[in-house]
Amino acid sequence: MIICVCNSISDKAINTAVTSGANTPSLVYKSCGAKPQCGSCTEYIKQEINQVQTTDK
Ligand code: FES
Repeated sequence: MIICVCNSISDKAINTAVTSGANTPSLVYKSCGAKPQCGSCTEYIKQEINQVQTTDK
């Protein structure tokens, strides 16, 4: 599923970025080789970060 339509970043790509240490939306964009554009996906990314961090602990 594509989460970030501007950069066509999938939920999987976001999950991979977050699990490999990207703990802010901008780091996630960076590790996907993209830049934030409309910003409407940042909410999802934040949730993903929260989720990964809670699962990690
Ligand atoms: S949907 Fe990600 S920047 Fe627009």
